[in-house]
Amino acid sequence: MSDATIISARKDVLNAVILAHNYQIPEVQGIADVSGDSLELAKISKDSTADVIVFCGVRFMAETAKILSPRKTVLLPVLSAGCPLADMITPAALKRLQRENPDAWTVSYVNSSAEIKALSDVCCTSSNAVKVVRNVPARRVIFVPDRNLGWWVARNVPEKEILVWEGCCNVHEQFSPDELQEARENFPDAEILVHPECRKELLERADAVLSTSGMLRRAKESAARRFVIGTEEGMLYRLRRESPEKEFFPLGSKRICADMKQTTLRQVRESLERQRHEIVIPPETGDSARTALERMVQYL
Ligand code: 13P
Ligand code: SF4
Repeated sequence: MSDATIISARKDVLNAVILAHNYQIPEVQGIADVSGDSLELAKISKDSTADVIVFCGVRFMAETAKILSPRKTVLLPVLSAGCPLADMITPAALKRLQRENPDAWTVSYVNSSAEIKALSDVCCTSSNAVKVVRNVPARRVIFVPDRNLGWWVARNVPEKEILVWEGCCNVHEQFSPDELQEARENFPDAEILVHPECRKELLERADAVLSTSGMLRRAKESAARRFVIGTEEGMLYRLRRESPEKEFFPLGSKRICADMKQTTLRQVRESLERQRHEIVIPPETGDSARTALERMVQYL
């Protein structure tokens, strides 16, 4: 029997749902019940009636699902699939910053550990960071851990003082301003869409700065026929599948998030067969992190 057949049978037995981030390999997105960006997958994991969530993505995403649905079993097929950006701030460093700035609200990007979320006043995702920071009831904001998204937020919310942590995504940092310039010359009719984790020189010059699912919507709604995409290469698969009449090109060479690519069909199958790797979060951490995640909706 194929992996896909076994996955489908085990899913029924366990009343499981398979969620895949937009960067997952095509085979995994192909067997997933839903693919999406961080915000969409978090919402689905909360609203789902499944008993088991198999999260094909990286650890912080599975943790977010567990925080929002503490009674469900959340499985991460590959234990070592992490997000180096999320590891760029420690709870001790954040506590120090908070002590030094007692009047500031802490807004953490969801690409962060459960402990960091638990220390935050509110969370945000790439699709709503600007709105959340604009609407929180504080003039000073500590923004962690991504400096590029933090810069983008500061630029769009000039009325607030944003203290930005110096973390970054090593995949998105690779896109260069020269590559963007080259793309403009090679594809003069194309829209250039970049993720807010790209360097600020790219955020300034792109046609739109969007979350991964924001790119999917833009590609469908825009009158443009061609797009240059500045994010992890997995997005090209979804964009081409959902807008087959349009053309998509990677910005520069294809950039790959090695952590996102660790999950294969075999690992999804084993995850369902052996119920592994279960995400466990200490209840106190989970409760505080849930408050920060649920507040995100209040400030939209
Ligand atoms: P999205 O929420 O835009 O999908 O981004 C998640 C991510 O990890 C980007 O690198
Ligand atoms: Fe983390 Fe970057 Fe990979 Fe996104 S692309 S999961 S931010 S390392």
